[in-house]
Amino acid sequence: MRRFTTGREAALALRPDEPVYCFRPRVLTRDVKTFLEAFPGKTAYAVKTNGEPFVVETVAQAGVSSFDVASRHEFETVKAVAPRAEQLYMHPVKAVSDIRRAFESFGIRTTVVDHPDEFEKIRLVVQALDLDPASIGLFVRLATKGHAAYELSKKFGAAPGEAVELLQRVDRAGFRAGICFHVGSQVEDIATYDAALGLAAQVRRQAGVTLHGLDIGGGFPAPYGRDPRGPDKSVPDPAALVADIGRDVARHGFDDVELVAEPGRVMVARSLSVIVRVLLRDGKRIHINDGIWGSLSDSWTGKITLPARLIPDPARRRRSGDPKRLDDFRICGVTCDSVDILSRPFWLPSTVDTGDFIEIGHIGAYSLSLRTRFNGFYPDTFVEVEHAFEDDPDGLEGFATVETWGEQPREAVAGEGS
Ligand SMILES: Cc1ncc(COP(=O)(O)O)c(C=O)c1O
Repeated sequence: MRRFTTGREAALALRPDEPVYCFRPRVLTRDVKTFLEAFPGKTAYAVKTNGEPFVVETVAQAGVSSFDVASRHEFETVKAVAPRAEQLYMHPVKAVSDIRRAFESFGIRTTVVDHPDEFEKIRLVVQALDLDPASIGLFVRLATKGHAAYELSKKFGAAPGEAVELLQRVDRAGFRAGICFHVGSQVEDIATYDAALGLAAQVRRQAGVTLHGLDIGGGFPAPYGRDPRGPDKSVPDPAALVADIGRDVARHGFDDVELVAEPGRVMVARSLSVIVRVLLRDGKRIHINDGIWGSLSDSWTGKITLPARLIPDPARRRRSGDPKRLDDFRICGVTCDSVDILSRPFWLPSTVDTGDFIEIGHIGAYSLSLRTRFNGFYPDTFVEVEHAFEDDPDGLEGFATVETWGEQPREAVAGEGS
């Protein structure tokens, strides 16, 4: 990968007409280490968040030795870049052939169920391979409720009564029983974890089985953009959040079991930005060369405001508007699909025009993994960048408002709301 100090430097040097991803290994390493140092249990990076081999490898080099995987392709990715790492196969509904492959070819010994028929699939594979059930950790996934940008209990998770029965079944068959939940992604209300832990404690009491593990899933929020006219916002600092959750874990009586977390977004969101180009400005609408079928579907479905920095094209000599005035621009994606319009605006100087570049920050989570080839557009160019997105020392002409972790929000560069 070519190296640059900032995304701006890359944009001006390359003048790309296709999106260019700026990967920040130093930021990724820092964010991974922050989580690892704060979390008192086993940290399994959720590969679905960003499964690019160079990302998974950097996560492993930063000290993660367990990975939450969901598919055969993810088993292979992890094995290729971190062959000695432990893999936890935490997809609740699996193909029998994949369960077999996980146990037989990848040495996986931890998985999950949320339905008796799924348990039966696993029991039969274990029997067919002549494995000792006591060598396998089998988590029962509990459905939870809470406030998150993504609520993920609509599809997966057993109701408390079903979870009690499943735990007893798992235990009777000789597996090492555990409870897991996933409260959703980009959790907005931290009390969500406390409520889920309370439910898990109730299920554990009713099941009356020996519990070997508690997996609290992912969901830890990352900082994104903010509406400059809206209230100052900050997301909880991951270290403080994890310390809070640790106290809740103890309060609900789980300090005697192995604790696991499956963070994704909180580790990788800040490690990538994407440089896009304005293909056309039409009043308050801006057409860019990326969109929801490219790198930006996470912001669309999660209604997440992304921090965006204008990098004016120096070749454009004349502009109208006030560079200090910010406007909210509606962002149209590059495909012919009329759904391809972001659900949140970008806040940009009113001078933005056709041919300019925009660096969109904090897109490391659920961007590369959700790209499609729709209409033949498939962003796939990468450069390496040294500075964090919010630390662009030359960012004077652009604008980006960024939430911070536990501090006052900062403005990467000068600008005022109109
Ligand atoms: C089971 C499970 N674990 C972990 C994650 C990672 O979540 P996040 O990126 O919000 O930390 C997900 C994502 O949806 C998931 O489904």
